Amino acid sequence: MSFSAEWLALRADADAAARDVGLMAALAADLDRRDSPQLVEIACGTGALSHALRRWAPQSARWRLVDNDQALLTKAAAAQPDAQPRLIDLAQNIEQAVEGADAVVASAFFDLASEAWIDRFIAALPPGACFYGALTYDGVEKWLPALEQDPIILARLAEHMRRDKGFGPSLGGRAGKMLAQKLAENDRRVLVARTPWRLNAARDGALIKELSRGIAQAAAETDPGVAAAAEIWRSANRERVEIGHVDIFAGPRIPARERALEAHS
Ligand SMILES: C[S@@+](CC[C@H](N)C(=O)[O-])C[C@H]1O[C@@H](n2cnc3c(N)ncnc32)[C@H](O)[C@@H]1O
Repeated sequence: MSFSAEWLALRADADAAARDVGLMAALAADLDRRDSPQLVEIACGTGALSHALRRWAPQSARWRLVDNDQALLTKAAAAQPDAQPRLIDLAQNIEQAVEGADAVVASAFFDLASEAWIDRFIAALPPGACFYGALTYDGVEKWLPALEQDPIILARLAEHMRRDKGFGPSLGGRAGKMLAQKLAENDRRVLVARTPWRLNAARDGALIKELSRGIAQAAAETDPGVAAAAEIWRSANRERVEIGHVDIFAGPRIPARERALEAHS
């Protein structure tokens, strides 16, 4: 599955507005106690997240940017010349991508992954590393004014999102909850914030239009029987759109001794 640089640019402002400041501050506090921390942005696309996180990270931070799309990675590296770009297929080699990391960060990615891959990802995270994941889709969408076609089109979209994107059956809207739960089971302190895009036509018209087009196409691809409904859906004018996400921060693994003390306190 490929993502265009144009699509990533179109969503960049909405992403920036949605990210939870408290969770970025939690990442900054964790990084502050480390010398020259190694940060790894996985599935970096054009690197919008690492770019935004630079002001939350110490000057001494070292950045590795990982994606399997050479064109996107080249753009990311051009925008952040001091970063180390790495062309890696995360489905095959997540272990290599996160090796030696003090912090692993990602944005708008985990809905593509399967449960088995999330398990493998968490096992690969170095125990002392923290994790910050922005904008994992949570399956909650509100399109206003509402249309009678909304339930069927959004149901077909959800089916489309569960297709295999190279990692096994995708989690789609279940990804955020599952990731947070599994990080907690991995003995990490986990913080979660709801971070929906709150779009309005006056400010975000181009993004709403492209979303409508993409969703209508996904619905009709999943079920050609809804093609007519999808066309009505695509061409409708919407004033406000909410697309649900969660941001997640997880600290390093809590050592067994500390866990035992917590359990007895
Ligand atoms: C929705 S885009 C998000 C890009 C970027 N994180 C952002 O927020 O702008 C998903 C990214 O995951 C990358 N990706 C998908 N499958 C991948 C894989 N198997 N290995 C590495 N990267 C992958 C895509 O190339 C794309 O850059």
